[in-house]
Amino acid sequence: MHAFAASGKGHTAMQHKRYDAVSNIVPATPDTIANAGALIAAGKLVAFPTETVFGLGADATNGKAVAAIFATKGRPAINPLIVHVLDVARAEEHAVFDARAEELVTRFWPGPLTLILKRRPGSPISDLVTAGLDSVAIRAPAHPVARALLAAAGLPIAAPSANRSGRISATTAIHVSEELGESVDLILASGKSQLGLESTILDLTGETPVLLRPGAVTADEIAEAIGPVETGAGDPDKPNAPGQLRRHYAPSTKLRLNAAMADPGEALLAFGPDPFAGRLAISKLNLSETGDLNEAAANLFSMLRTLDGGGHRSIAVMEIPETGLGIAINDRLRRAATPEDKSDG
Ligand code: TXA
Ligand code: MG
Repeated sequence: MHAFAASGKGHTAMQHKRYDAVSNIVPATPDTIANAGALIAAGKLVAFPTETVFGLGADATNGKAVAAIFATKGRPAINPLIVHVLDVARAEEHAVFDARAEELVTRFWPGPLTLILKRRPGSPISDLVTAGLDSVAIRAPAHPVARALLAAAGLPIAAPSANRSGRISATTAIHVSEELGESVDLILASGKSQLGLESTILDLTGETPVLLRPGAVTADEIAEAIGPVETGAGDPDKPNAPGQLRRHYAPSTKLRLNAAMADPGEALLAFGPDPFAGRLAISKLNLSETGDLNEAAANLFSMLRTLDGGGHRSIAVMEIPETGLGIAINDRLRRAATPEDKSDG
């Protein structure tokens, strides 16, 4: 499906200089990853790259360390976390797999698919991770640095996206630092997240699989593997987890969706051929000039972040087709465009 090459090798001298300016960012190398694993085992917080977005990780079996994740993000403790593991064998120590789960992880792990499964009785995962639920969210990430960190720590790692609660996920180490600053003990840098959108979340605790969050593994791909999937039930008005609330992935600047072009005072986030091509006065970025949804997904959060910092009246976002990965992109855009009074904070 996707090739996840280690992207941390080619850092330029200039990038290293930028990292040096922020003392808790280090490029991911075998040494820094080993150190990061030891920090996790000692109850510290480590932000690390995954193929989706950066995670803010802690030992999932250490309640005090997990509590620090919630405090650092300003996240309500009723919002449970995803447990990251190396493989299915380790996942089965914490969650009960049925035939559907086995089939899905055979196809899509390691990768951007999180399963909500029944929690295995006796699992050492802290109750804070699952917010006291009898289910657990679990995924095996594909990114080589995430996998090396899991191996080094020798523990399941609880990790939400490495941003302050309610804000856009971070897709680079610098963005993690902008969000969380010095409150993280270490940030492992390894280029830019390849997928750029959070993992697909599928709830398998009931008879019918329910898509809670669209992502790079699409509902169609899941349905092909295990049969019909309920997709409407990510109904934002009836959240079964606060992360499913309407406004969640939010920049500070207002978004105007499905725009044909930008009005005066607006920035433009284009997709496909640019209606303002050659006109310099407009502040604009293009998710993908060729209309490639993979490229657009990888660019979405970092471009929103850049335009958000520009002091514009609003950001006009051109229409993204509601197919394939476009479904996940539009999900994030709709949540980001929801007015503040509908916010989950
Ligand atoms: O791609 C990703 O999934 C990234 C990387 C770091 O792995 N992680 C991520 O975590 O996006 P977070 O915490 O930002 O989003 C996880 C979502 C939240 O909306 C949470 O409410 C939901 O998963 N969740 C966690 N446990 C759950 C459970 N037992 N039942 C239902 N939803 C759950
Ligand atoms: Mg998040």
